[in-house]
Amino acid sequence: MKEKIEEIKNLAKESIKTAEDLKALDEIRVKYLGKKGELTAILRGMGSLSAEERPIVGSMVNEAKDDLEKIIKDKEELLKTQELEKKLEKEKIDITLPSDKIRRGSKHPINRVIEELEDLFVSMGYDVVDGPELETDEYCFERLNLPKGHPARDMQDSFYVTSEYLLRTQTSAVQARVMMANKEKTPIRVICPGKTYRRDDDATHSHQFGQIEGLVIDKNISLADLKGTLEVFVKKMLGENSKLRFRPSYFPFTEPSYEVDVSCFKCGGKGCNLCKHTGWIEILGSGMVHPNVLKMNGYDPEVYSGFAFGTGLDRLAMFKFGIPDIRMLYTNDIRFLNQFDRKED
Ligand code: DAH
Repeated sequence: MKEKIEEIKNLAKESIKTAEDLKALDEIRVKYLGKKGELTAILRGMGSLSAEERPIVGSMVNEAKDDLEKIIKDKEELLKTQELEKKLEKEKIDITLPSDKIRRGSKHPINRVIEELEDLFVSMGYDVVDGPELETDEYCFERLNLPKGHPARDMQDSFYVTSEYLLRTQTSAVQARVMMANKEKTPIRVICPGKTYRRDDDATHSHQFGQIEGLVIDKNISLADLKGTLEVFVKKMLGENSKLRFRPSYFPFTEPSYEVDVSCFKCGGKGCNLCKHTGWIEILGSGMVHPNVLKMNGYDPEVYSGFAFGTGLDRLAMFKFGIPDIRMLYTNDIRFLNQFDRKED
């Protein structure tokens, strides 16, 4: 009996060794260790053995079973690893293969204008700052000297989300944020390009548009600084021959306030359809920061002064690139955008 068990065990071991896959291994398990397997059959037939032989044979069979189970388990691990390796080998991707060519996009005209302005102002020592597009009534209006019920609020048709939150109508909101964050620290020299929103929609107005705000605060800032800065800005953006005209105007957050016109860059000031035959094109609002705004946002107006300006990025892009309809900037027509695809950047 002992030899028989030994023989079965050796045969089993041999076939386990040569099993090629998990399925074959499972068949071997059933053949030797299953309910109807060869070793189980010996246990079943123990009734014919003598009382002394029974425990000896029993423990031999169990030992052989344990042995085989262990060998099968090891083999199973080995086969699993081999199968995984084979699978990985088959699924290998050659990442060095060249991909399908995707045509490179072009920079949006508004982003071109923003980048150009950022480069210019950074070269003059300004920081570029950001603010939230969902703004509070406090920062968009109140801290800019536009308390609730102020008639000048009517100049900006707003999208209110709640009575306290609105989509910002002007990047001027960032002025107050920058001042509140710095309180008496000077100099402040920032520009803030970003999206703004108003309830407008026609060929020259969009419900969403871009603005860039500028703010400078220090001791002894005067109107001459504002004029000099705007001159550089306009000449760089619209051509060195541009002339500026300052028209007195009204903005609640500046005093005095000016609207700034630039000599028409299409006709050079002679008069054409672009400048509506006036020779001038209005491009921005500006002024000296109102003492109330300084005071409300942590600066003593007896000590500090500043200037601010704000202009529409869409208008600048339209002028710069001769775009006739503001909606072209937002409809994402590839035929339009492709025209701004230039090799140099
Ligand atoms: N925020 C104004 C607007 O949206 C533009 C403006 C005017 C900004 C005068 C300024 C400023 O900073 O000083 O119409």
